[in-house]
Amino acid sequence: MSGSGKLKPAARVSGQKQDVWSIINEAAAATPKQPIVNMGQGFFGYNPPDFILEAAKKALDRVDCNQYSPTKGRPRLKRAIADAYSPFCGRKIDPETEVTITTGANEGMLSAFMAFVEPGDEVIVFEPFFDQYISNIEMPGGTIKYVPLHPPETGATKTSSAADWTIDFDELERAMTPRTKMIVINTPHNPVGKVFSKEELEKIGDLCVKNEVIILSDEVYDRLYYVPFTRMSTLSPEIERLTLTVGSAGKNFYATGWRVGWLMGPADLIKYVSAAHTRICFSSVSPLQEACAVGFEQAEAEGFWTQTVRETKAKMDRFNEVWGELGLPYSEPDGGYFVLVNMKKVKLPADYPFPAHVASRPRDFKLAWFLIQEMGVAAIPPTEFYTEGNAHLAEDYIRFAVCKEDEVLEEAKERLRGLKKYIQ
Ligand SMILES: Cc1ncc(COP(=O)(O)O)c(C=O)c1O
Repeated sequence: MSGSGKLKPAARVSGQKQDVWSIINEAAAATPKQPIVNMGQGFFGYNPPDFILEAAKKALDRVDCNQYSPTKGRPRLKRAIADAYSPFCGRKIDPETEVTITTGANEGMLSAFMAFVEPGDEVIVFEPFFDQYISNIEMPGGTIKYVPLHPPETGATKTSSAADWTIDFDELERAMTPRTKMIVINTPHNPVGKVFSKEELEKIGDLCVKNEVIILSDEVYDRLYYVPFTRMSTLSPEIERLTLTVGSAGKNFYATGWRVGWLMGPADLIKYVSAAHTRICFSSVSPLQEACAVGFEQAEAEGFWTQTVRETKAKMDRFNEVWGELGLPYSEPDGGYFVLVNMKKVKLPADYPFPAHVASRPRDFKLAWFLIQEMGVAAIPPTEFYTEGNAHLAEDYIRFAVCKEDEVLEEAKERLRGLKKYIQ
């Protein structure tokens, strides 16, 4: 480093410990058990449907599709999203003022926090959380107030429902202060697979109305639910007025690398999200916006929304068969494509040579390391999605992503059967 220290990085990036994705992906790449079965990160092991892929290829041949899109998004995509979502709200969504296109849900959420959070403002986040929320809130100077979802008490011994991960509403009320500016909800939830019930959402919504708190409802898995799904913004006009709904075409159409997302909400909130987005990246990938527009225009007629639920649920059931064989309990997901498995019964060898950066982390990191080294299966330790104080709640769980080809799921099951000898 130069003597002046001017090359020193900002604290927001230099203080970060190694992120879970790098730890797991590096371990997966280095293990002698190759090829690894990677059920860690939530990317799809298969392509978007043909009608959307074809639309993307065609878009590349069009001059305008290879140039900047308007900062708020391509009119065709905004219209397609407004048309696709209006039936859920029982009114016509205005594509010009109530929808804004972003570079994935991630950049959409960053834009929302940049739009509303001032230094010292508080944002409530439930644990476990999608890790990106944290830095996105901290960048504009926000302070995070954490409220844990409580796992089912019998989680280590019995398979339970993701619905059994519950909110203590007294804890939530205590977390709300006059400085609370926003709350983040995620339903269907990553990594729990919980679909918040209408009653739970109403209680959260009522608290937000009482305290005038903006609700960022992260609904990126909104097409993957296996029980009735309630959208936060549809609960009442008072709640709708405060709600920014986050969507992801990457999640909807199996194209996480396309980086197309959006925010929907009241015009007087969306305009500031768009303003922040303009300053962050100006506009989002044009040809893929066009392809996503075709996706929303045709998905219903193609039967894609029912197909995606049917196929993903079948993958979930296929994969989870192995836990019955092994006698390991899991949390049955009501939505999304992640499953949390409780591995308290897995006895790790006392003298196992964990590297220091794993040995110093909670037990789920050791479990994940062991699965990679001994079984050749990569999965995610969920305490990464907790603060230190609450990490113990999830230290026996491991998260698997089932959005992989069926053969991959079968191979994973075969390998995981090797856990039998470590289970007591
Ligand atoms: C809960 C949740 N929100 C947002 C995202 C990010 O979505 P996108 O890929 O559209 O940025 C993810 C991705 O894993 C997620 O799990």
